[in-house]
Amino acid sequence: MQLIDGKKISIQIQEQIALEVKQMLLAGKKQPHLAAVLVGNDGGSETYVANKIKTCEKVGFKSTLIRHPEYVTEEKLLQTVIDLNNNNDVDGFIVQLPLPRHINEQKVLETILPSKDVDGFHPINVGRMVLNLPCYVSATPYGIVQLLEKYNIQTSGKNCVVIGRSHIVGSPMSILMAKNTSLGNCTVTLCHSKTENLINHTKQADIIICALGSPEFLKADMVKEGVVVIDVGTTRVESTSAKNGFVLKGDVKFDEVAPKCSFITPVPGGVGPMTIASLLKNTLLAAKKEIYS
Ligand code: GUN
Repeated sequence: MQLIDGKKISIQIQEQIALEVKQMLLAGKKQPHLAAVLVGNDGGSETYVANKIKTCEKVGFKSTLIRHPEYVTEEKLLQTVIDLNNNNDVDGFIVQLPLPRHINEQKVLETILPSKDVDGFHPINVGRMVLNLPCYVSATPYGIVQLLEKYNIQTSGKNCVVIGRSHIVGSPMSILMAKNTSLGNCTVTLCHSKTENLINHTKQADIIICALGSPEFLKADMVKEGVVVIDVGTTRVESTSAKNGFVLKGDVKFDEVAPKCSFITPVPGGVGPMTIASLLKNTLLAAKKEIYS
């Protein structure tokens, strides 16, 4: 069993980005600039956004955090998005999800200019991804693709089971793994809450991407020997022994599944750090105007 070290790969990517930023600045170009919009005080979202901002600083990006209280109106949030669209100093920005229930999330996402949508959530970017056109691929799926590539994991002709059909991970992941590209060409099965006899699917899988958000869901008896397991889950579970009162749990019962795997991502230190690295990669593309000129 080989552990897929997302933290290590993420640091390598950050170093490459930092080098490119230095060269851009030497060439007299402006500093790439990522903005993040955070609504409310959800603990998980706070941590994710803080990490994104911190990593921006590490690679030499400029970053801006715009905070709104939980009760912000949809109109005010949309105005923030429009202001960021019009701000020529900002290359790309994200609105951290989930948003409070009184705000129409889709409307907010569709207001972001596709050329600044470094999360790749706008329907134009999703559509372009499906059609194999230049686009921002959303950060978590993009991070997983890069991990599979870095570890030379063969995908062509393999059975890939994706568990979870979220717009952020499961659904785009199923499309990327089936593409006729060097990393792809899998036979993909997208499983979800209505799937019958899930185990019949997972037992046949050469690659399992677990993205349902249910701690320790995937057990050893559900997988075959030699499987590649990518664990996207990051659920906060209360723990009296942890300093901050919780531990991060993946969707895979790691201790019992890992011995059966050829490759597996840990939680933390697997997919999570890659999400941030991919967001920064997309921001660099935005700064260089490589996708939308
Ligand atoms: N919430 C959970 N994951 C993400 C992400 O990748 N981007 C944004 N904007 N919000 C999220």
